[in-house]
Amino acid sequence: MRATANVNGQISLAAEAKISILDRGFQYGDSIYEVVRTYEGVPFFLDEHFDRLENSARLSKMRLSQSRDFLRTEILRTVKESGVQKGEDVFIRFTISRGEGPLDLDPAVVSKTSYVILVKELPPWNKNFYSDGMTLAIPSVLRNSPLALDPNIKSGNYLNNILAVAEAKEMGGDDALLLSPDGKLTEASNSNVTFVIDGGLRSPLHESGTATGNLRGITRTLIAALATEADIHYADVPLFPQDLGQATECFVSSATREVMPVKAVLLRDGRKISFPSGGGPIIKRLQQEYTRYVADYVRARKSEAWF
Ligand code: PDD
Repeated sequence: MRATANVNGQISLAAEAKISILDRGFQYGDSIYEVVRTYEGVPFFLDEHFDRLENSARLSKMRLSQSRDFLRTEILRTVKESGVQKGEDVFIRFTISRGEGPLDLDPAVVSKTSYVILVKELPPWNKNFYSDGMTLAIPSVLRNSPLALDPNIKSGNYLNNILAVAEAKEMGGDDALLLSPDGKLTEASNSNVTFVIDGGLRSPLHESGTATGNLRGITRTLIAALATEADIHYADVPLFPQDLGQATECFVSSATREVMPVKAVLLRDGRKISFPSGGGPIIKRLQQEYTRYVADYVRARKSEAWF
């Protein structure tokens, strides 16, 4: 397959795609986006990603000019143009920018949102992240306060997360585990984090409007449901770095990482909290349940496969 882009209807190789410098996504990060993947050609949870896109638009006071059906058709057109074959799968990122207009922060100066769709191969995650696990480090940079920029807006402005990753890498981590301004654990730079405490799953609270913000992950929501079905207790709770001492397993989740074990968390005071290499029994069980769920999902939608 070829990495392929669709900029407001214009499809080209991703490397040749261009947007206007007057686009507010470029000028101000005034955009929102989603990342979806396929399994055996079937888009996974596309409607849930559209729901979240619409929630991001609502929270950022953006009126979407493109309907869900229009975007779905455009995404499919881009996927087909990529030349992807049966047996492969794709990563799809779709971004909606508030649009093109004069340099003026007032969002009212633009009347039409613009869109960019990128279709490419799935991220080639380091195999050790699954066989062994990732190391997260807690940087001094804090996650955006929901009272300033709600992390439930999946916005095109990831500078907060970028600064956190840069610092986490300097600390010897693979990724960051960000704290909120009120000192609670929130999430990693582009995935949610969950711990096993007292045999149950505990993930940081993520409601909009609370002091602790993190993105309501679609993968985490699925994992919560799978855990509950498997009689593993799940709860969203406030969590602090000092609670990590009680955690026996830790993993991150996202559409592309699925259930990825964390082998260590590096704390701000120099301590390191370690977890079983490659994940403990609960992570292994969740990975199995996840694989089973995906297989059932794909089987039930075989006729809707895109390629
Ligand atoms: N990231 N938190 C943040 C900040 C994210 O960017 C993401 C997703 C998640 C997990 O959400 P989900 O389970 O719905 O993928 C949590 C995508 C994958 C990305 O930016 O590539």
